[in-house]
Amino acid sequence: PVVAVLFGGRSSEHSISSATAGGVLRAINRDRYRVIPVGITRDGVFVLEDDEPDKFALDAERLPEVVDNGTRVLWPEVGDRCLRVRRADGTVVALGELDVVLPILHGVHGEDGTIQGYFDTLEIPYAGGGVLDSALCMDKHFMKIVLQAAGVAVAPWITVTRARWAADPEGVRRDAAALGEPMFVKPARAGSSVGVSKVHDASELDAAVDLAFAEDDKVLIESAIVGREVEVAVLEGRCGGATRASLPGEIVLTTREFYDFEGKYLGGDGAEVVCPADLTDAEIASIQQLGVQAFDAVGGRGLARVDFFLTADGLYVNELNTMPGFTPISMFPKCWLASGMTYPELISELIDTALE
Ligand code: DAL
Ligand code: MG
Repeated sequence: PVVAVLFGGRSSEHSISSATAGGVLRAINRDRYRVIPVGITRDGVFVLEDDEPDKFALDAERLPEVVDNGTRVLWPEVGDRCLRVRRADGTVVALGELDVVLPILHGVHGEDGTIQGYFDTLEIPYAGGGVLDSALCMDKHFMKIVLQAAGVAVAPWITVTRARWAADPEGVRRDAAALGEPMFVKPARAGSSVGVSKVHDASELDAAVDLAFAEDDKVLIESAIVGREVEVAVLEGRCGGATRASLPGEIVLTTREFYDFEGKYLGGDGAEVVCPADLTDAEIASIQQLGVQAFDAVGGRGLARVDFFLTADGLYVNELNTMPGFTPISMFPKCWLASGMTYPELISELIDTALE
């Protein structure tokens, strides 16, 4: 099959997506797939990228980036399958008959259902989440409402719009105080901890809210749940098989306050990604069961990483990520490796599920 690997994009997670692409381009089974790398620049244009995994390696000093090289990828219209590229000199060349897109995009315009809707409209098959689950999980406010309605425990929170923050900051501060300290302040629609702060007392709240509003018009203030941070990787069953969850992993914090952007991608120490996590069989079973329940609750498709807090009074779901970090050292692949799959097998399964 011919696979367009799609990466980069318009969100604040552009470079993380590009780094994931580096890992995928290196590992994808070339005997089985013909790969066409398609980058999306920060401005949103589709360019034909180089098939060079090293170009997109995660380097803390210089995060990888898709730049406009003058080419334009032309998606096939309905009824056609021919993927074309317009070169910088204006000539149009056919690249091949496209079978499926692997959109390894994070954040808005990538993980939020918009590009999924675009490909649905063009009738081009793609791997991973669909329109509804992607849109739901991109918006932490609506994701939490749906999880709660399905009986999944989530951290208590309030949602603040930019308009309310401008009109009634005192009311917001009062509502936030009722959540107790410490708390987390997050943009509703972002990822990789961009714009997220841990607030220890009321004096830190305003700055945290302003930081989150720099990313989005809607902000969540949540009670900080005290517990272990465990995560599980979920895959939709192939060939009518059941949706399944991997062995759980854990984010182990030593000196870092929370698993922020620096700890995730810039080599900052004090946080470690461990899989499998040290858990009892009963804990593993309930994490896996709740992971699948949460995936079903949001109408999950393809894959998701479900993030939890394991506390003295049970499990809380922090969030689902419908296109989780997917570099070879990211939690999602790590969990499947610990569960007996290889990284290339995982990529193949994602693509093949979309081809069925
Ligand atoms: N948003 C990042 C990529 C993650 O969930 O892993
Ligand atoms: Mg996330």
